[in-house]
Amino acid sequence: MSEEKAVNVPAQSAGATLTEDAAPGEVLLKVTGLQKHFPIKKGLLQRQVGAVRAVDGLDFEVRSGETLGVVGESGCGKSTMGRLITRLLEPTAGKIEFEGKDITHLGVSGMRPLRRDVQMIFQDPYSSLNPRHTIGTIIGAPFRLQGVEPEGGVKKEVQRLLSVVGLNPEHYNRYPHEFSGGQRQRIGIARALALNPKLVVADEPVSALDVSIQAQVVNLLDDLQAELGLTYVIIAHDLSVVRHVSDRIAVMYLGKIVELADRDQLYRTPMHPYTKALMSAVPIPDPRRRTAKSERILLKGDVPSPISPPSGCRFHTRCWKATEICRTTEPPLAELRPGQRVACHHPENFEDQQPQDTVLLSAAKEAAELVAEEVLAESAETSAAVAAEIAKDSAEAAGAPESPEVSKTSGVSKTSAVSKTSGVSEVSKVSEDSGDSKGSGASEDPAGSTDK
Ligand SMILES: Nc1ncnc2c1ncn2[C@@H]1O[C@H](COP(=O)(O)OP(=O)(O)OP(=O)(O)O)[C@@H](O)[C@H]1O
Ligand code: SF4
Ligand SMILES: [Mg+2]
Repeated sequence: MSEEKAVNVPAQSAGATLTEDAAPGEVLLKVTGLQKHFPIKKGLLQRQVGAVRAVDGLDFEVRSGETLGVVGESGCGKSTMGRLITRLLEPTAGKIEFEGKDITHLGVSGMRPLRRDVQMIFQDPYSSLNPRHTIGTIIGAPFRLQGVEPEGGVKKEVQRLLSVVGLNPEHYNRYPHEFSGGQRQRIGIARALALNPKLVVADEPVSALDVSIQAQVVNLLDDLQAELGLTYVIIAHDLSVVRHVSDRIAVMYLGKIVELADRDQLYRTPMHPYTKALMSAVPIPDPRRRTAKSERILLKGDVPSPISPPSGCRFHTRCWKATEICRTTEPPLAELRPGQRVACHHPENFEDQQPQDTVLLSAAKEAAELVAEEVLAESAETSAAVAAEIAKDSAEAAGAPESPEVSKTSGVSKTSAVSKTSGVSEVSKVSEDSGDSKGSGASEDPAGSTDK
């Protein structure tokens, strides 16, 4: 966290300032129904036999000056989304608007101005820099490609950019292998900043780096945003990195956004069960929440294939709250609270969206039984104690004969009430009672770990 926070950012050179800035808070990028299906071809004739539905209908917007964090497990389509919005991939369907202009299918010449405004930082600082080029050539490439001559020349501008990202401007002629991972990522950042972009999409910008270096690069991105008024989309596979930098966070699962909310709201009261499961995997530094270990939610089963995603809600095969409606009907991404959009029939921290439908799917029943057994045992104990008390009282008051009957009836009825009818209701009760800190049946899982 220490590190040279001093981001020496001089005024942007005239040559690099190509477009006017959008007012902070205005929608810079708007994505509607965005899809990318990669065809699967087979045989000599290369006939299409299916498709990988990597991104399958995304709706979101990015406002000027904000950082939108995008999280989700490996393979959920984050990088594909990043490549679509930077127009490195052609979408299968949907619409992408940048500053109100439809850029979904722009051709090469139409894309030229956009290439300056939208830049990408890649995950792997080792493979994303050409080892045979000096860093001067690498960072200067965008100027040559765009035919831009910065004031004072390319070399001077590149040296300025090197100092902006905390590198020695004298190292202009060195090669990528002479730099460490963190320094290489700084070179990647300098290259992305060369043309003074408006939107920077960073795909796992720190996940290839040592933990100690991650904080430095995250801080650098933070500082650059403050100094240059940049807008970021930062992709990560866990919540701890995006938590630090994001204003809003989109949680993706199998090609879809399942929850999109302000950062604090998402951490305080996650509404989608998947968000809750992801969060339970993040170590919580707050000592007041030491009990966090016992709150972990174990997601059961593997991530389904994006070639044939589950019907209805895609998370239903792993969700401990799934009911019949989850299997048949896809929940829309709806704004359930101001600033919090969720795609779930039975969201957490909220009144049930489908109270009429409470029959849990078999996957959910498994988790439910874990809780029910405990509740059952406790309840049986209480019943027995109460029955014994009643028996004792009755015996004292009216003589011995009636008491055993009373004790039997009350014991049986209480126990069966819990075991038969409340397999479902007890689970929902437990999860309600537990507020935002406890999950549900699945949180009771003794394994205490999560496969994110
Ligand atoms: N060019 C491609 N052709 C076919 N399938 C692809 C292609 N690129 C990505 N996919 C598939 O699309 C899905 C989403 O991939 P993507 O790389 O976007 O996921 P991701 O969320 O970035 O994962 P990770 O966290 O591992 O980087 C995966 O199933 C992947 O195998
Ligand atoms: S409760 Fe239903 S809709 Fe909500 S995440 Fe679980 S399976 Fe999906
Ligand atoms: Mg990726």
